[in-house]
Amino acid sequence: MASLPEDQIEELRRLMESWKNELLVYKFALDQMDTKFSIISQEYNLIHGHNPIEHTKSRVKNFESLMNKLVRKGCEMTTRAAKEYIHDIAGLRIVCSFVSDIYNMVDVLKEHEDIKILKVKDYIKNPKPNGYRSLHLIVEVPVYLTNKVEHVKVEIQIRTIAMDFWASLEHKIYYKLNNEVPTKLTDELKEAADVAHYLDEKMLNIRKKVDQ
Ligand code: GTP
Ligand code: MG
Repeated sequence: MASLPEDQIEELRRLMESWKNELLVYKFALDQMDTKFSIISQEYNLIHGHNPIEHTKSRVKNFESLMNKLVRKGCEMTTRAAKEYIHDIAGLRIVCSFVSDIYNMVDVLKEHEDIKILKVKDYIKNPKPNGYRSLHLIVEVPVYLTNKVEHVKVEIQIRTIAMDFWASLEHKIYYKLNNEVPTKLTDELKEAADVAHYLDEKMLNIRKKVDQ
């Protein structure tokens, strides 16, 4: 089996190492966001006796996916291009109980002075044609390092349990079928998304009756 010459391997190793250091701020940004949502969640419990956040999940995009996305977008393979054009290097998913909680979360975030909301995509009011629903935010959060402040972009996806259930399984099906899903199945997935949406509406109605 052919293998790369030692000097090229060494160069690749150095490149990955330098990117690793540059990408560390994304982990720090997520650490901060995790703390932020943990505080929100604990405070809700304390004051209102209920918690709109079911669970949260965060991840830093791995090196290989990041390289692939840069190529896909026709960007330079530099950390500078990555920081400017790739907005989901740091990703955070907030799974809420009810649809109304999603919008409450956004209102809460709007009050946080350290967070700058750069972009909002509301796939709940305007679902994707395949049925995908969620609210996406691109925010910028300051990360204080020893000798500088970096403003780091984080993609936040806020959704209900039903939306998350659908999106997770749809993703798995696409993965399993190598992104080649027959129309019959995309139609069925769309139907499933509508059922999930129906459930969300039903639960919200029940919740409103309980509140009255
Ligand atoms: P990309 O991340 O480059 O695709 O950017 P975009 O500008 O198209 O972003 P968009 O806000 O549409 O989607 C960003 C992320 O939302 C994706 O990386 C997925 O995690 C999630 N997402 C968007 N659409 C779908 C979908 O149809 N199904 C599932 N399962 N997830 C989706
Ligand atoms: Mg993405």
